[in-house]
Amino acid sequence: MSGAAHETIRVVIVGAGPAGLTLGNLLQRSGIDCVILELRDRSYVERRQRAGVLDHHAGRIFEEYGLAGRVLANAPVETLLEIRHEGVPRFLNTPELAGGRPSRLVPQQLLVQRLIATFTEAGGDLRFEARDVALHDLDGARPRVTYRDAGGAEHEVLCSYVAGCDGFHGVSRRSIPDAALTTYSFDHGIGWFTVLSDAPPPRYPLMGVSRHGFAAQFARGPRASRFYLQYRPGDDPRFWPDELIWQQLRLRLGDDTLPDASVTDRDVVEMRSFVVEPMAYGRLFLVGDAAHIITPMGAKGMNLALADAHVLARALAAAEHDGDDAALREYSAVCLRRTWDYQEFSRWFTEMVHDAGDESMAGPFRGRLAKARLDRLFDSPPAAAAFADLMAGTLR
Ligand code: FAD
Ligand code: PHB
Repeated sequence: MSGAAHETIRVVIVGAGPAGLTLGNLLQRSGIDCVILELRDRSYVERRQRAGVLDHHAGRIFEEYGLAGRVLANAPVETLLEIRHEGVPRFLNTPELAGGRPSRLVPQQLLVQRLIATFTEAGGDLRFEARDVALHDLDGARPRVTYRDAGGAEHEVLCSYVAGCDGFHGVSRRSIPDAALTTYSFDHGIGWFTVLSDAPPPRYPLMGVSRHGFAAQFARGPRASRFYLQYRPGDDPRFWPDELIWQQLRLRLGDDTLPDASVTDRDVVEMRSFVVEPMAYGRLFLVGDAAHIITPMGAKGMNLALADAHVLARALAAAEHDGDDAALREYSAVCLRRTWDYQEFSRWFTEMVHDAGDESMAGPFRGRLAKARLDRLFDSPPAAAAFADLMAGTLR
């Protein structure tokens, strides 16, 4: 790259989603020089609405690094979880069942806004609109990252490590030779239609298991809700009229009083899972959705991204400050253990709330099994505690 601006920075982080921004903040707090390169502009990144639950384990990460006061300010803590079966409500006190470990309700875009603010105000180097990011010499001692800035100027950064935090469609995973990765993917055979609405949030996170199909309502701040509606593979619900959405939600949630509200966004969510092994190649470490996708059921996608970032930040600190790279060598194995644990949880949860409702897809036998699984949650304190432990986020 002749004519390119050359720099040397210890760690290059590709992507400013929850994974990259968390890693950037943790490295900054650890005194490790880093830059974050983000494809999109700041306002796009700050407005992207997705997850809404920060589990207890993720909250502890921000506490450990002295960031909780800023990043989690005024975030409501989770209290009860409400699951209705054919409109009949039952409640689980998941924080209490998990031994006093509440999750928090934090819309992803709010978390992202706050992480950007904390990082940049402390002097962090975050470059938006970094185009054509390319990773070179990952298997050598001195990787290089090249990109073009918004004005078209070429840049080259020499570094010691690259953190691929650029999500499922990013460039990092694709920079690893195919032969070095094993890919696992699974289609859950279920469709979810999701709408954002200015409907007031439910009193508690709410799930409706119903013969008409699964539905759920979760808070997105004090004045908005995200709804999910199961749809049949082959259908295309994106053009459902608003009246049909509200009629189906009332039916599935068993709530005749749910008023029509305006729909501000609608989308379909692919209920699929994806994992690559290993999550590292040479001096490149894959973090978050770059390495794994999980269904939204159980709300673990963003939390896995933060947990990976935490493991990597600690491992980089040991390597940089103590010259000990044992934790970096273990990075992939440690993160994959949690990833597969959460994939199993999400699959288990998905089967329970879908099969116990509309039996026409899984059949009556699996329908009865799912109903037994659901009842066990409310009848067996140890079963409820195991569920709550996963909701809070595990330390295993
Ligand atoms: P991303 O958020 O995808 O961030 C990657 C970043 O990299 C982006 O900013 C992108 O612009 C940037 N990038 C991409 N390519 C490049 C490139 N070539 N160069 C530079 N930058 C690049 N998870 C939960 O935990 N709880 C939930 O309740 C939940 N609900 C969800 C609901 C929906 C509708 C969806 C779609 C997802 C949900 N998730 C949830 C999943 C969660 O949003 C993701 O797991 C999370 O965003 C992953 O964070 P990440 O930083 O790994 O990736
Ligand atoms: C969400 O807030 O989108 C959410 C919460 C809990 C779940 C799934 C999704 O189990």
